[in-house]
Amino acid sequence: MIGNRILSGMQPSGQLHLGNYHGALKNWIAMQDNFDCFFFIADLHSLTTLYENPQLLKKYSFEVAVDWLSSGLDPDKCTLFVQSEIHEHAELHLILSMMVPVPWLERNPTYKEKQDEVKNVDMSSYGFLGYPVLQTADIVLYKANAVPVGIDQVPHLELSREIVRRFNKLYKKKVFIEPEAKISDVPKLNGIDGRKMSKSYNNAIFLSDSEKEITKKIKAMLTDPARGRRTDPGDPVACNLFPMHKIYSPVEMQEEIISACRKAEIGCGDCKLKLADNLLKSMYPKMEKRKEIAAKPNEVYEILRAGTEKARMVAKATLQEAKAAMKII
Ligand code: TRP
Ligand code: SF4
Repeated sequence: MIGNRILSGMQPSGQLHLGNYHGALKNWIAMQDNFDCFFFIADLHSLTTLYENPQLLKKYSFEVAVDWLSSGLDPDKCTLFVQSEIHEHAELHLILSMMVPVPWLERNPTYKEKQDEVKNVDMSSYGFLGYPVLQTADIVLYKANAVPVGIDQVPHLELSREIVRRFNKLYKKKVFIEPEAKISDVPKLNGIDGRKMSKSYNNAIFLSDSEKEITKKIKAMLTDPARGRRTDPGDPVACNLFPMHKIYSPVEMQEEIISACRKAEIGCGDCKLKLADNLLKSMYPKMEKRKEIAAKPNEVYEILRAGTEKARMVAKATLQEAKAAMKII
């Protein structure tokens, strides 16, 4: 029988934006009805970039939890927990690190890319090289069958599978399950300036933004750069805004915009107002929910505490099994 345990994690980088929502959260929410889901806040992983400001972790983790709950992750349907509260992650990471050859980690393309990308923090740490080993511990402790992730995480998952095979072979017991990557097709969503939406680029629309902020940001969005004047025809394909219409506007409206834009019958200002309208319509219910949730922080902490307790039982049992297979207990 194919098991149906799903696990995924998210680094707490503070408030989540629309890119995070469409890239991950939306899929998680869709899965909670049909699978046995474990979702966690990967705060230890965040230390790879936040080690100079670790005091931010608690605050960021709370904000992520509020975004999760406001968006529709339901603690009655899935288990929500905090990585650093379950010490088995750290212990299994250490054990696995003893059997992972360094070249496996060095050839990971995500490792190289991130090192080039992140300029403001020194990313040459031992811990950052071992990032996928900690990620493997996260996954295998729960014997997850599938891990919903973006395409950038595929090399990590491949490495996890290799580590699982190595462990099971070394100790002659199928303690861990090879996890499968469940790749979600992520719509291309750029930020206000046309670059990839990212908190660090200062171009993001956050799930926690107010109606006013959202409208202001949409109005500031880059459109088809070839459309200098209102009378110049535009091309939605070259427009940074249009992918958002594809998500939020009804198909008939999209078609109208495509044709009107190409004939210069609609101005970008009006087109933006239409988008803001539709985006806000989809966000109002979540804004309401957020107000309720943010007003009761103790309930958020309680949800994480209860989830963590449940997850810890699973993690403890698996670590015991692993150590027994190694004959070190
Ligand atoms: N590396 C993931 C990311 O940056 C976060 C993560 C940590 C994760 N541990 C995980 C994802 C385990 C899936 C499973 O998005
Ligand atoms: Fe983009 Fe709309 Fe302007 Fe066309 S009219 S360029 S789709 S914002």
